[in-house]
Amino acid sequence: MRIAILASGGGSNMQALAEHFRIALVLTNVPGAGVLARAETRGIATAILDHRPYARDRAAHEADIQRTLEQHGIELVCLAGYMRLLTPFLVQAWSGRMLNIHPSLLPAFPGLHTHARAIAAGVKLHGCTVHSVTDVMDEGPILGQAVIPVLPGDTAEVLAARVLAQEHRLYPAVLRQVLDGAADWALPGAALLNPLPGPARAA
Ligand code: GRF
Repeated sequence: MRIAILASGGGSNMQALAEHFRIALVLTNVPGAGVLARAETRGIATAILDHRPYARDRAAHEADIQRTLEQHGIELVCLAGYMRLLTPFLVQAWSGRMLNIHPSLLPAFPGLHTHARAIAAGVKLHGCTVHSVTDVMDEGPILGQAVIPVLPGDTAEVLAARVLAQEHRLYPAVLRQVLDGAADWALPGAALLNPLPGPARAA
C-alpha cells in the first residue's frame, strides 16, 4: 500500500508513522515546515505545494495535490497536522482512503485550540481521535481514540504534550488495523488505547 502523509507543521506524527510503515510521499503546503527535514532525514520523497500562490483558488491547489498523489501512485492518505480545510473534491477522491488525526476526543472539540477548550470546559478526560475523513471538518467514522485524564494544574501546553505522545501511539495502531483490514470502517471505536482501569476489586 503506497501511503502519503499530508502535513503542515513539525511532523512528529509523520515520524511516528514512518517508524512503523514505509511512507511513499510527504506532501506539505508550508515551505520550510519541520516535517520536510524529518522526511528528508528518513529518505522519504517530499513535495511542497504552497497554497499561497493559488490565492483563493482552492480547486486549483487541490487539483495539483491530486496530480502529485497520482504521480506517486498513492493509495492511502494520512492527514497529520495538515492545516488546510479540504474541499469535497479531494475528500471524495479519497473517500474511504483518507485518515486524519485530531487532538481531542471527537465529537468534542472539533477545530482549533482543543486543549485550552478542554481545560476551560472542565472535562476530566481528553485525548485524540483517528477518523476517516468526510466532507465535514473533524467528522467521519471514528477508527480509534486514546484517552488521558486532565490533571489539576494542567496548562494547554502541558496537556498538548501529553496528548501528542498518545497521538504517536494511536495513529500507527489504527493504521495497522486499517492495513490489516481489521478496522471496521462502519463500526466506531476500532482501537481504544488507555482504557480506564476497572473498579477496584474487594480483597
Ligand atoms: C497534532 O496535534 C495533530 O493532531 C494536529 O496538529 C498537530 C500536528 O503535530 N492536527 P505534528 O506536526 O505531527 O508534530
